[in-house]
This record gives sequence, C-alpha cells and structure tokens, in this order.
Amino acid sequence: MDRLIVTGGRRLEGRVTASGAKNAALPILASTLLGAGECVISNVPAVRDVGTMLELLKVLGVSVTREAGRVTVDSTAVRSVEAPYDLVKTMRAGVLVLGPLLARCGEAAVSLPGGCAIGPRPVDWHVDGLRRLGAAVSLEHGCIRARTAGLTGAPVAFRMPTVTGTENVMMAACLARGTTVLTNAACEPEVVDLADFLIARGAKIDGAGSARVVIEGVPALRGAAHEVIPDRVETGTYLCAGAMTGGRVEVDRCRPGHLEAALSALRGAGAEVTAAARSVTVAAPRRLRAVDVATAPYPGFPTDLQAPMMALLCLAEGTSVITESVFEGRWLHVPELRRLGAAVTVDGARAVVKGCDGLSGAPVMASDLRAGAGLLLAGLAASGETALARIYHMERGYERIEEKLRGLGAVIRRERGRA
Ligand code: EPZ
Repeated sequence: MDRLIVTGGRRLEGRVTASGAKNAALPILASTLLGAGECVISNVPAVRDVGTMLELLKVLGVSVTREAGRVTVDSTAVRSVEAPYDLVKTMRAGVLVLGPLLARCGEAAVSLPGGCAIGPRPVDWHVDGLRRLGAAVSLEHGCIRARTAGLTGAPVAFRMPTVTGTENVMMAACLARGTTVLTNAACEPEVVDLADFLIARGAKIDGAGSARVVIEGVPALRGAAHEVIPDRVETGTYLCAGAMTGGRVEVDRCRPGHLEAALSALRGAGAEVTAAARSVTVAAPRRLRAVDVATAPYPGFPTDLQAPMMALLCLAEGTSVITESVFEGRWLHVPELRRLGAAVTVDGARAVVKGCDGLSGAPVMASDLRAGAGLLLAGLAASGETALARIYHMERGYERIEEKLRGLGAVIRRERGRA
C-alpha cells in the first residue's frame, strides 16, 4: 500500500481542470443495464470506483470498452443478475445495479454494499421504494434478492432524501408500467445528470432536481451518448486547498452553480471567490476566519466537503462549529487532524474547531475517501512532512490528485508499498 509524502507550507497557485463527477458517472454506468443498444459516456473520471463499476458490468455480461475518459457500453446481452460480494464490498455504489437489473431482467441479487466507513449506511429506503413498485425483496446470505413479474408505477415517498436511493428507484421506474411519483427525492446535480441521460435514452422523467420527480414508464430504452457533469466535490476540494494555503487557485471546466453553498462558506471564511460560467477562482491573501457550516442535502453544504472544509477551518482565526447532518459519525478524520496539531472536539453531530496558528506535519491515515482528502489538504498547509497512509481510499474518488496538486505547486511524492 502506497503512502503520499507531502512537504507542506507551499502556497498553491495556478489552474486545475475538474474531472467528471464520480457520483454521476457511477449511476449513469449502472443505468446502461436498463436497455439494449450502445451508450457512449464521456468525461468519465479514471478513479477506482469507476473501474469497479465497469468490472461489475462486465461480470453481468455487458460489453465495455474504455478509451481515456470515454466509455462505450453495450448492455444488449445481460448474462447474470448477480452482483458478487468481491466487487460490491469495496464500493457501496454497487447497489445501483439493483434497480436496473430488476426492471430489465425481473430479478437481481446484490451483496449488501461495503464502501466508505462513514457510520451506518443502510439501503432500506432503496428496498422500500422497489417494493412499492411491486418487487419482492428479501435478504438472503448477505445478499439483497429482488424479484418481480413486472414493476408497476406507484407513489414513493422517501422519509429523507437519499441520493442513490432516488437514483435506484428512478431507474427502475423507467421500465415500470404506469406512473411513479417520487416525493422527498434527492435534488443533487448527479440525480439530474442521470435523469438527463435516461431521457436521452427515451425515458419519460419530469422534475429531476426537485423534490418531486414523475416517471412515466416506457417499454424499453435505447442507446445514447452523454457527457458526465464536472465533479463539484473535487472542485470544492481544490478551492479549499488554494484558500487554506493562502494561495490562488482557479478550477476550470467546472459548474460553479453546483457549488453555491460551498462558495458561500468559503466567502464567509474571508476567501475571495470569483465565479464565471465554467470556472471559479479562489484567493486568500489574508488569514481566513472562522465560519459555521452545517452539511445538508443539496443545495445545502455537501457532506462530501465537510472534511476538506474542516481542514481549512483548523487554520482559521476563531472557533467554528461544523454540524454533520447527513451521516452519523462522519468524523474519522478528526483524530488524525489532531495528530497534526488541530484543536477539534466532537460532540454527536457537532464538531467545534478552534483555529490554530499552524499545523505540524505527522504520519496520518486516511479512513475514507473524503477524510483522506481533508488530511491531504491539512498536510499541504502544515509545516514539515506529512505521510498519508491508506491513500487507496482517496484513489476511489479523486482522479490524478497528486499530479493535479503538483501542477499547483504542491510538493508531494508517492512512497510505494507501505501500509
Ligand atoms: C451518496 O451516497 C454519495 N454516493 C455519497 O458520496 C454522498 O456522501 C451522499 O450521497 C450524500 O450526499 C454516491 O453518489 C455514489 P444517501 P448515498 O442515501 O446515496 C441515510 C463520496 O465520498 N439512508 O443520500 O449512499 C444514510 O445513512 C460518497 O463520494 C438510510 O438511512 O447517501 C444517510 O444518513 C460517500 N437508508 C442519509 O440517508 C437508506 O436506504 C443520506 O444518504 C438510504 C440512506
């Protein structure tokens, strides 16, 4: 297992290009299972979770070719309806094949997903939604088994917005008989991107991006081409890196409109943020100041930027309160940040961050994807060397992160083969 060795204390300056959004690419790739015909998906990021999803599609019998950021998928021949544990255990988003397989083949078996260690993450709302459409679902030997003689549209009210739950039920409803109305649906841009792709394939979906989504089932979907939206979490991560090192970073080929809550938090912390149509620039000529942040479903502050933002606030002047309202216990980065000298205490869903004058480099360990990003950012701002272990977590979701950070002036090297 490789480690990243960061020599901190450099101001990051320059321009970096946003990659395609992992969390849009994953459901879009899963949704190719819904119908025959060739789908050409571009702007697909080269991250490990995407590789895992493509492996999963291949196991199911789908033909996949990948050339740089473009993936061509032909799901005409689906041979298996079983998503094996080996693939799903490393990536929660494996559960996204449940809805499409069930709707297309009348049957699906998906191992209960693993993925990031960020508290209990059940999939009961996915299952409830599919049951509402007429599926019989059971849990057998660690595997969710769903069967149907044909799905039927129905009202599905989510207790709370769930991103992949909305995506799973929306995909299944595309081939159901009649109309499905999702209420309290997730409004994330990734849900909209998936809906746009499905609509291009002939699905009838109205209202994606709002809490009420109406899907009128159609008999079949056709192939289509689609470009994945830019990654808003990756964009926000580079903006935090620029601001907390007192630098100036422009992220291009992004959608600042998808990041309003994060941009407003950065402004609240005293960073200068300039947004254009397809790029955003952050500069922090002065020390940042404390700001309170509460994560929430879109359009709220994204939970996936909570760790990078915490790293930034560790160095701001004053005391910030971060409230994590989406995932229970998404604080695995906190003890590691303390190793760098950060003053953070956690009480339930709230973390109190007392800004300090400087962090000092130390060996730390990534425990999930975004925790890893937060620690890497802290290392970039800390004095001396930070050795970040378990970087495979980060490789699940950030494309060429070392190279991109080096392009901004970061001093990072990879040490091979260490845990
Ligand atoms: C998606 O996860 C993202 N993953 C996550 O990104 C992201 O953090 C999360 O949405 C929130 O924005 C993908 O898109 C592949 P949820 P998801 O269902 O869909 C509870 C990253 O780092 N819940 O919206 O799994 C759940 O426990 C990852 O890129 C249930 O109780 O999240 C959580 O508290 C990590 N039962 C809340 O809802 C369910 O059946 C929201 O989770 C489903 C969810």
